[in-house]
This record gives sequence, C-alpha cells and structure tokens, in this order.
Amino acid sequence: MSSLFNDSGQKPVYYSNASLYMKKLENKVAVVTGASKGIGASIAKHFAAEGVKVVINYASSKEGADKVVKAITDNGGTAIAVQADVSNEADVIRLFKETENAFGTLDILVNNAVSQGYAPIEQISIEDFHQSFNVNVLGSILTIQSALKLFGNKGGNIINISSGASKYPLQNASLYSATKAALDAFTIALSKELGVKNVRINSILPGATETEGATSAGVTAGSEYEKMFVEKTPLGRRGQPADIAKAVVFLASDDAAWITGEQISVSGGMYGF
Ligand SMILES: NC(=O)c1ccc[n+]([C@@H]2O[C@H](COP(=O)([O-])OP(=O)(O)OC[C@H]3O[C@@H](n4cnc5c(N)ncnc54)[C@H](OP(=O)(O)O)[C@@H]3O)[C@@H](O)[C@H]2O)c1
Repeated sequence: MSSLFNDSGQKPVYYSNASLYMKKLENKVAVVTGASKGIGASIAKHFAAEGVKVVINYASSKEGADKVVKAITDNGGTAIAVQADVSNEADVIRLFKETENAFGTLDILVNNAVSQGYAPIEQISIEDFHQSFNVNVLGSILTIQSALKLFGNKGGNIINISSGASKYPLQNASLYSATKAALDAFTIALSKELGVKNVRINSILPGATETEGATSAGVTAGSEYEKMFVEKTPLGRRGQPADIAKAVVFLASDDAAWITGEQISVSGGMYGF
C-alpha cells in the first residue's frame, strides 16, 4: 500500500485505499458560472468529487445544467442548478440568494461564463462591445460583489477563468482578448484589496481547449484551426476541460494557500501565435 506523508514525514495524508482518501474541499460551497457545459461543467464535477456542494449557474441551457447536476448527484455529490444572466444585477443577486438558501454560506466563486465575441475590428458593433464586456467583465464584478457578502469574515476564494489571449491577444479576437486582459487586471488589483479579508483571487489562462464553445467558434476536430493550435502546443494536443478543472481544484484548495493575484497558464505550454 502506497502512502503520502506530510512535511514532517510523520503522518500519512492519504492512502491508495479510496475509503481513506481525504477530499481536498469537503463541505465547501462553490458557485461556478457558466457550468452547463465545457470547462465550467468539468470544474463543477471535479469540485463535487472533492466534496464541494456546487451551484451550477447557466444562462439558457437548462438541459445541460440539469445533466451536470445529475452526473454529480448520481455519484453521491451535492449540486443545484440556478439560471442567471451574470451581466444582469438582479439575476446575480438572486443567484447568490438561492445559494444561501440552499447551502447557507459560500467558500469559492469561479467566474467562468463567457461571451466569445470573435470578429475583425471592422465588424465589432457597439452591441458586441457591451455584450462581451457585460458578460466577461461586469458579470465578474457583480458576482464578486455578491460573493464577498456571503464569504463574510471567514474569507473565501475566487478563481477567474481568463484566457491565454489576455497576455497574447489573438487576431480577429481583439474584443474577447481585451475583456480577458481587463479580468486579469481585476485579479491583480483585487488580490491587493481582498488579502486583508482572507480572500484569495487568481486567474487561470487556458490554452485552446476542446469545448462546445470552441466548436461553435469553428475550432472543430480535424480543422485547420485545431491543427494550428496543436502545432503551437509543446505538449502536442488540445486541452481538455479536465486539464483546466484540475488546476482550479488546486487553486481552490489549501495546497494553494500562499498563492494570490496570479495569472496561471494551463495550456500545455502554448504561448501566443
Ligand atoms: N475553450 C477554449 O479554448 C478556451 C480557451 C481559453 C479560455 N477559455 C475560457 O474558459 C471559459 C469557459 O469556456 P468554454 O469554452 O467552456 O465555454 P462554452 O462551452 O461556450 O460555455 C460557456 C458557458 O457560459 C455560459 N454563459 C454564457 N453567457 C452567460 C451569461 N450571460 N450568464 C451566465 N452564463 C453564461 C453558458 O451558459 P448557457 O449554456 O446556458 O448559454 C455556458 O455554460 C471561458 O471563460 C473562456 O473564455 C476557453
């Protein structure tokens, strides 16, 4: 039987025997925005596997959100689905009220919901601008404001799902890239404001990841886009939602207790084009 030991080398932390495995986030409560599919759904499932009670937020895909809840509860976990448009203040207030009603508290917020908004500069409309910034930036401001109230004096943990495009903006994705750069600026500034409240906040920057959103943006299996992304990725494949979810679990856990204000690439080594 294998074992892992703590820093002192004295006590086993967990064993290969699954019944003795200590879940990293037992009884924590998390809100994951945009969790009806893709990366958000995988984060929710990985959280639940570590003992988190998860609020699955979605905008319109009730069926997708219900499937994620079922996958979690079928495995003995706890989850509820709550519809809310994160760019709508009343919706966000209701999302966190329903979280409080269901679980009484909040420990973790993951800002994952996205409006993609890929277009060359000539085609970006004022409506596109507001849609992208409202969901990707204002939505995160609103959720963070509500989360802080529920975190209370015990503090909490915020993970913003940014993008490699925040540091290495993509051609024909200037608007999307700009929203993610803005999100990273919030991560850094808020780490300085919120450390005193025992709140950690970090950004994860996924590389190209195989999701429904990526597919509808044209990055389909076998496409030229996919080949281009894989060629630029040292580890030689596209990311999977689970690759991102595992990094989120790490950041949410005490293993990352000394990490805040960071932008962490989870991209198989892909940096820019
Ligand atoms: N996939 C990639 O290659 C990649 C690369 C870098 C970064 N990322 C980032 O990773 C995150 C997840 O991406 P993904 O590819 O998994 O996305 P996705 O498959 O398009 O899923 C997007 C999710 O956001 C939700 N959503 C959209 N607008 C919303 C709103 N106004 N309020 C609440 N929820 C809303 C959707 O809900 P409905 O289904 O109900 O509409 C859905 O659950 C995003 O922040 C994205 O920028 C992805």
